[in-house]
Amino acid sequence: MKIYKTMLINLVSLLILIPGMAGAYDGNWKRGDVYYRMVCTDCHKNQPVGKVPPDSRTQAEWAAYLEADQHANGQDTVSKYVSKSFRASIADENKAAAKFANVPEEELFADIKAILLRGASDGDAPAGCR
Ligand code: HEC
Repeated sequence: MKIYKTMLINLVSLLILIPGMAGAYDGNWKRGDVYYRMVCTDCHKNQPVGKVPPDSRTQAEWAAYLEADQHANGQDTVSKYVSKSFRASIADENKAAAKFANVPEEELFADIKAILLRGASDGDAPAGCR
């Protein structure tokens, strides 16, 4: 009986430890959704490009786009627009930028990726722009 108890404890500890060991941050699509709408789309809608809805691309296309990290036909990068310095520069007039001022850049980038993959034309919940 004792051996089973020990095994059970080992198994449970392993299950608790594995996600921590991987150290992977999966991205919070809800936070990404807010940021994409309130920061990315907020600018796009006033530009010739217009809104860029998540369902305008497939998951593979979004993954490749974010991997390349080239924005606006290569004029700058997507990371620039999730950077803390960019958020700080618009925080006075943008509530989302102010609210997420201290989120690490890699996390916010992963959040954007999560919402774009989720909302992609072949994603779990294809989404237009709101
Ligand atoms: C300050 C304005 C501004 C912000 C903020 C902004 N973009 Fe853009 N974005 C543009 C402009 C301008 C274009 C169109 C460039 C063109 O077609 O010449 C564009 C185009 C795009 C495109 C179409 C493909 C491409 O790169 O041309 C995607 C996708 C995109 N932006 C993603 C994002 C994401 C994701 C964010 C937020 C993390 C973001 N943008 C924030 C101005 C902005």
